[in-house]
Amino acid sequence: MRKKIVAGNWKMHKNAEQTEDLLNELIAKIPTDTDVQVIVAPTFVNLASAVDHLEFTNINVAAQNVHQSESGAFTGEISADMLKNVGVDIVILGHSERRAIFQETDALIANKVDTALEHEMTVIFCFGEELKDRQTKNHFNVVENQLKEGLFHIEAKDWESIVLAYEPVWAIGTGETASPEQAQEMHEFIRQTVQTAFGVDIAENVSILYGGSVKPDNAKEIFSKPDVDGGLIGGAALKADDFVAIVNSI
Ligand code: G3P
Repeated sequence: MRKKIVAGNWKMHKNAEQTEDLLNELIAKIPTDTDVQVIVAPTFVNLASAVDHLEFTNINVAAQNVHQSESGAFTGEISADMLKNVGVDIVILGHSERRAIFQETDALIANKVDTALEHEMTVIFCFGEELKDRQTKNHFNVVENQLKEGLFHIEAKDWESIVLAYEPVWAIGTGETASPEQAQEMHEFIRQTVQTAFGVDIAENVSILYGGSVKPDNAKEIFSKPDVDGGLIGGAALKADDFVAIVNSI
């Protein structure tokens, strides 16, 4: 049975004090008996304290990125060993902002995936089309290529460490959410694409999250779709009540 997951990508928000305040609210409000895996992804500087703060809770901590090399002269970067050393074993990779703003290519993301897996990390692999792709009806090709170029080189055994996150770029931060039907159509295609390449067992067991303007008032309908296994949340993750409402929507 594949996992239901709600992950909050905090992006470049919340200093140390604000992080602690939000975590305290989430600790108080996230049900301890939920079968949803809840993940928060603060910024690098707050990861260690977040891990300590959440030690005895059911909330997991993820990083928003990782460098592909073990160590070296890479000013400003963070290695997988550094993340594991502070107790972080989940990492978001391939986010559209890393692809667009920081020019991360499919090949670079594939290298980061390998490094994360070598360090026994779970990868939340992000991908999704831009508006022009959907407008030209090229969105399925774009999504298939991102999967094949960035992820499909991995071995079958590694899929237990993979979470997929479909995030149509035109829905991120815009308030323009994909309809539940659009989300289901693409998630079904994604699962079929995984099945064609890796077989039905892997396809049926991988969690596929939707991301892109998920809010308390649309989460339930999106999450009700058979191939949507949860969400990767941006703006709404920064407000405890909204994030908790989304967690409780599954
Ligand atoms: O990684 C999740 C994020 O890109 C979605 O952002 O603000 O549209 O929920 P938002």
